[in-house]
Amino acid sequence: MAQMLSAVAIVGAASAGSPIVTKQLVGVDAPASGITVVSRQEVRPDVASAAGDLTLSISDLPMLSCHYIQKGLFFPAPGAPMASLVSLLVSSLSRALAIFPALAGRLVTLPDDRVVIRCNDAGVEFRHAVAPTLSLDDFIVPDADVPTKLTKDLFPMDRTVSYDGHRRPLTSFQLTVLGDGTVFIGIVANHAVVDGTSFWHFFNTWANLCRGASPKLPDFRRNFFGESTAVLRFPGGVGPAVTFDADAPLRERIFHFSADAVRELKATANRRPSGGEDAEVYGKMAHDPKNPEGLSVISSFQSLCAQIWLSVTRARHRLAADATATFRMAVNCRHRVRPTVSPVYFGNAIQSAVTTATVAELASNDLRWAAARLNASLAAYDDGAIRRAASAWQAAPRCFPLGNPDGAVITMGSSNRFPMYEGNDFGWGRPLAVRSGRANKFDGKMSAFPARAGDGSVDIEVCLALAPDPMAALLRDSEFMQFVS
Ligand SMILES: *[C@@H]1O[C@H](CO)[C@@H](O)[C@H](O)[C@H]1NC(C)=O
Repeated sequence: MAQMLSAVAIVGAASAGSPIVTKQLVGVDAPASGITVVSRQEVRPDVASAAGDLTLSISDLPMLSCHYIQKGLFFPAPGAPMASLVSLLVSSLSRALAIFPALAGRLVTLPDDRVVIRCNDAGVEFRHAVAPTLSLDDFIVPDADVPTKLTKDLFPMDRTVSYDGHRRPLTSFQLTVLGDGTVFIGIVANHAVVDGTSFWHFFNTWANLCRGASPKLPDFRRNFFGESTAVLRFPGGVGPAVTFDADAPLRERIFHFSADAVRELKATANRRPSGGEDAEVYGKMAHDPKNPEGLSVISSFQSLCAQIWLSVTRARHRLAADATATFRMAVNCRHRVRPTVSPVYFGNAIQSAVTTATVAELASNDLRWAAARLNASLAAYDDGAIRRAASAWQAAPRCFPLGNPDGAVITMGSSNRFPMYEGNDFGWGRPLAVRSGRANKFDGKMSAFPARAGDGSVDIEVCLALAPDPMAALLRDSEFMQFVS
């Protein structure tokens, strides 16, 4: 059955092809999810690349042990015949790859152990999948966990480790067409090659080219610690494994925080205390000329993270009172480092800001306290802190230790400021929802997404261990749930 279906679809896709694209027919069987890949094509940049080799920086190298990033968007029905849609996506992808030739290359380890992205136009894979029995409602279910058995099949290269970019494409793409006409466009990208900022820049570029708008060009200068000569060695070319148990069972849920809820959290976090030492500090802040809004110095996002930190730590009720609860937040270094690197710097320019408190401290303090704690470590994450982290890494290079070994860690990735809905119109309307694959997920891993309304509302994707089910405890936490809608 699946074989026949595939043959039919491929004729359509191949007939509208462009000469720079190599087509390939591959028979596939239908997985249990009901999402079936019906064609795969190899896509190359439409112009030969002159970019040469791009050396991985000290921010790229640690990511060699991470999974490829898997993020994508649901869109309303394109209302075009499938063959012309596939052909349009593939030809605009080919042009987008010419602007980002690094994404069509391969990793190469040089004799001196440096790892480079060789922009050799080796190509990427574009898959067309169909799911005639599924509709958007099967994926976006209110008041329920994310149906990860379905979402995992929206992406190719499931749980591929970034080091494998030595022999596998650095990006892969999948268009999935659901029974109700809704489509999902998934991108999988090597995490040693891009961080979230560059990932969404590429997504925007592809969408822009597809709908006929002009793209914003990336900056390929290796000026984020590009002068470093530190290397990570993998003897015998044996790549690293991920630093966490990728098979540990998880519950995954997306919590929506309305603009009002976010405002309320921010107001609470910034509330002026009635007296004492704190009042004096707040009084000074109120008169800070850099702070014209008066007391609103703790950001909305930090305030939201503080509530999550309090409630998730409470939900992990087996933690000892004196255990250290850690909140790790991915920080974009592009604007924090001096001199700054371009906002369109291509690659990873991220570090992880760590905030800690004991379980007992979080249990006995309020949102204001937790938010001030997060705010303080993020405020301290300046050029000096970035350079100290860079020197420490160069003194002892290692893979990025993603995971939650003591069960008390929250790792916040992605960003509610990434342009997921804005800038990603491929020509037939704004995205309907963002979803991710199984990559880099473990107990306490969270991802921030802007919510679709674009009014400051936020969606947080939360992964928690299946046992002892802290997700159930979180869902019963009325202090947390009052902000969720
Ligand atoms: C929050 O961080 C800002 C800098 O971003 C700093 O000026 C302010 O004092 C901090 N506020 C609190 C309450 O920690």
